Amino acid sequence: MSSILETYRAMHAKSKAFADKAARVFPSGVTHDARAFFPFPIYVDRADGPRKWDIDGNEYVDFIGGHGALLLGHNRPEVMDAARRAMERGTHFGSSHDLEVAWGQQVIDMVPCAERVRFTSSGTEATMMAMRLARAYTGRERVVKLEEHFHGWNDLLVGRTRADEPLPFSVGVPPSFYSTLTVVPSGDVKALHEALEPRDVAAVILEPTGAHWGTHPLDPSYLHEARRLTEETGALFIMDEVITGFRMAPGGAQERYGVTPDLTTLAKILAGGFPGGCVTGRADILDFIELRESDSEWNDRSRISHQGTFNANPVSAAAGLEALRIIAAGDECERADATAASIVRGINTMFREEGVPGSAWAVSSMWHLNLGYDAPMPVEVEWDAMDEPHGVVPDLMRPLRWALYNHGVDLMGNGGMVSSTHGDREVEDTVAAFRATVHDLRAEGYLV
Ligand SMILES: Cc1ncc(COP(=O)(O)O)c(C=O)c1O
Repeated sequence: MSSILETYRAMHAKSKAFADKAARVFPSGVTHDARAFFPFPIYVDRADGPRKWDIDGNEYVDFIGGHGALLLGHNRPEVMDAARRAMERGTHFGSSHDLEVAWGQQVIDMVPCAERVRFTSSGTEATMMAMRLARAYTGRERVVKLEEHFHGWNDLLVGRTRADEPLPFSVGVPPSFYSTLTVVPSGDVKALHEALEPRDVAAVILEPTGAHWGTHPLDPSYLHEARRLTEETGALFIMDEVITGFRMAPGGAQERYGVTPDLTTLAKILAGGFPGGCVTGRADILDFIELRESDSEWNDRSRISHQGTFNANPVSAAAGLEALRIIAAGDECERADATAASIVRGINTMFREEGVPGSAWAVSSMWHLNLGYDAPMPVEVEWDAMDEPHGVVPDLMRPLRWALYNHGVDLMGNGGMVSSTHGDREVEDTVAAFRATVHDLRAEGYLV
């Protein structure tokens, strides 16, 4: 009988051939850190709804969902039609256009804190812009972020993320950049209070579900405390909703948890499966990008300049507008949440039946996995244990993913992003794939 890895290699010969070529083109053969995979990643040929197919013809339940961009699944017909119509008019005007206005207005209509919008090309650019706005508005330099929370790869927020590092170092970023970045432990209100106490903080930025889309859960009460403490100390509160925006509710985590930040960063679902991001929030803050007629002092010395060749490109605008309209009008968020809950219940039931050391949990339509240690099961679906979940034991991660690929599931990190097109069939196939995977892992001694 072949091993898990031998089976993976045998099922993915064409992917391997592409990976060999890619190794000579890209560092590590990939174009995004999260796509690097040993011994080689799968190469995808096409996708539809909740599924995708690789170039060897293998079918997968897709839990990556365009890195979280595809709440509506792959190729939602109305979104594809809107993008096609836009493309026929031209892909880039280098001018203002009707679709960007409707798209921006749609953001304002949906997101509680949104009074003004500025489009960017990615979430990384959006968080970079939010930092700059916060510093310009408050006249302060220090920014507070939470341990492990991810805000893209821009110089201001990238780097080692632990609170016990004196400075969050990243190779290639001058250490002086970090003299104004304070990292506090996630969920610790006292630590946040202490960081804000000197009243020199421009902004607190966080992922509202906790780091890495809820891999390290954050109690929603912390959001209320962060709102209160930032208000008291004159700092701005930035919710990075690049992942949670239009997913946790049509108005994102801020709608779901009833906490309105000063600024919000958005991307992914925002652009309907195409590139795009934005900063939105209070008009008096966004107005720092404003060009004022006959006020050269303001224009030269106070405002923030902002360019970007592909800001609000018409194809992203058309697709994003259509996607947001569908989300605003329907029950897409609720359906994705319900399917994620069914996946969690299905995996946990199977883990109990098979005596597997681990558990699954979800927040909204994002589910996660503990595996390889005796993790508690959530009472319902959200993580409610006192201890932090540990996720998948590191040595198990690769064999787990090889085996899941062999059985037709593509995970994102230690879990997945569920779309409104995932349904009962995906739940059944996922649980069956996990059961077969558990058997494979046990047969090779990876799992007790
Ligand atoms: C919370 C969060 N913020 C920002 C980003 C960066 O967005 P982008 O990949 O569009 O640059 C990401 C990307 O995954 C993210 O998860």
